[in-house]
Amino acid sequence: MQIALLNKKINEAIVDAKIVFVINKDLNHASIADKETLELLGFKGESEETLFVPSSKTIYVGCDSLDADEIRLAASKALECIKKTNLKSLAIGTYSNDCPGVNIKALVEGFILGSYTFDTYKSKKEPSKLEKIIICLDDYSRVDVSLETATKALRSATAVAEATNFAKEIVNATPQDMTPMALADVAQTLTSIPNVYCKVMDENFLKAQGMNAFLAVNRASVHPPRLIHLTYKPKEVKKRFVYVGKGLTYDSGGLSLKPSEHMVTMKADKSGAAAVMAILKGAATLELPYEIHAIIGATENMIGGDAYKPDDVLVAKNGKTIEVRNTDAEGRLVLADCLCYAQELKPDLLVDMATLTGACVVALGEYTTGIMGHNSELKHSMRKASDKSGELSGVLPFNKYLRKLLKSSVADMSNISSSRYGGAITAGLFLDNFIEEENKDKWLHLDIAGPAYLEKAWGYNQFGATGAGVRMNLYWMIEENKK
Ligand code: BES
Ligand code: ZN
Ligand code: ZN
Repeated sequence: MQIALLNKKINEAIVDAKIVFVINKDLNHASIADKETLELLGFKGESEETLFVPSSKTIYVGCDSLDADEIRLAASKALECIKKTNLKSLAIGTYSNDCPGVNIKALVEGFILGSYTFDTYKSKKEPSKLEKIIICLDDYSRVDVSLETATKALRSATAVAEATNFAKEIVNATPQDMTPMALADVAQTLTSIPNVYCKVMDENFLKAQGMNAFLAVNRASVHPPRLIHLTYKPKEVKKRFVYVGKGLTYDSGGLSLKPSEHMVTMKADKSGAAAVMAILKGAATLELPYEIHAIIGATENMIGGDAYKPDDVLVAKNGKTIEVRNTDAEGRLVLADCLCYAQELKPDLLVDMATLTGACVVALGEYTTGIMGHNSELKHSMRKASDKSGELSGVLPFNKYLRKLLKSSVADMSNISSSRYGGAITAGLFLDNFIEEENKDKWLHLDIAGPAYLEKAWGYNQFGATGAGVRMNLYWMIEENKK
């Protein structure tokens, strides 16, 4: 599906049908030619409501306001409405708000995110017939959008949305297909982008580096672990950003086995890995002036005679000892070692992304990413970036009393809290043990356990993977680059 810009009125575009948004239920707007038909058919213009009027070849879509995320939602619903039709080309106006280009971005993101379908495992594929969407710049605008601004917006939004869909595709792949080695192969494909490099390390490297917490999680798996290190290094570098992703290609819980109903969807425990790869891909495509590293700890968490056990004590890369009390709290063990490795790169920003705790889903609900860290300004800027990107996020506060709950009688710390409450934060505080003093204020922990994978679609997110965390971080970098 191609998206093009046209410096003409919507009625001059030669297409199979046009899309008209009904903003704030205003059926009297000049852009709405079928008012009587719409009223006759009971179309009110509610958010997410769509109607195709064949006589005028118009797709009407309800849209609550000109806010970017409403525009994304309406754009995606327009495509959903014509999914089964044979329409090949569509045209739409620009719906500018006060910020030129912003809603062109939102339109493009809505179309690309909304058009994603996952059919790898379907024997009968039903590809969309839609080939082209034309965005007409000379329409409804309260603000003039220059072709230059619009072209930039189109390019930027395409990079962000396609990176998000790239993450979805990785996460949706089954655990038998997307093993740690297969994940490393996907990472290698990103080296086709200029200035992107990829190193893949095996278990011998992990042993040499003393990454025993990571190795312990891998032990019962028939698939060897991989430490994947992607780098994007452009000519001009303003800062160095290091991302660390949890890449559990499957989480059975290990010997602290998950109940079967909780095990389903655990192919999505590699969502942090997919997100950091996608962020690097997006940033490289946008040619942002930052050196970016994506570090992924890829392994399964399985059961077997060789499995690591509750009662084991592990020595992490930084020498700290961890009492294992629950093998299902495995993500933090992998991340602990990867965070140590990541800090050797002397980052200006260190972000880890993980489907880390069910407790985060309980705390914030299934749509929202948990943001944790020590630096209020940094947490706040990520919150703002996520709002702009259309992702939902909330800050979860650390405190010293929750930290005490990780105390162990036999080792430096336990891998689980002694309380059943505050589990998302205690997991974040566990990771904090592996953040060096000089990096405390540079670090953010993003728990994407809720929004990363859906068993029920919402907004413009389909069933399955959503690419959670990708857009908020790319928006964060785009904002940072304006400074
Ligand atoms: N991968 C899970 C967390 C998770 C839960 C992700 C639901 C997505 C949806 C993680 O490894 C895990 O099992 N965490 C445990 C921690 C507990 C043992 C302290 C959990 O959340 O129950
Ligand atoms: Zn687990
Ligand atoms: Zn897990």
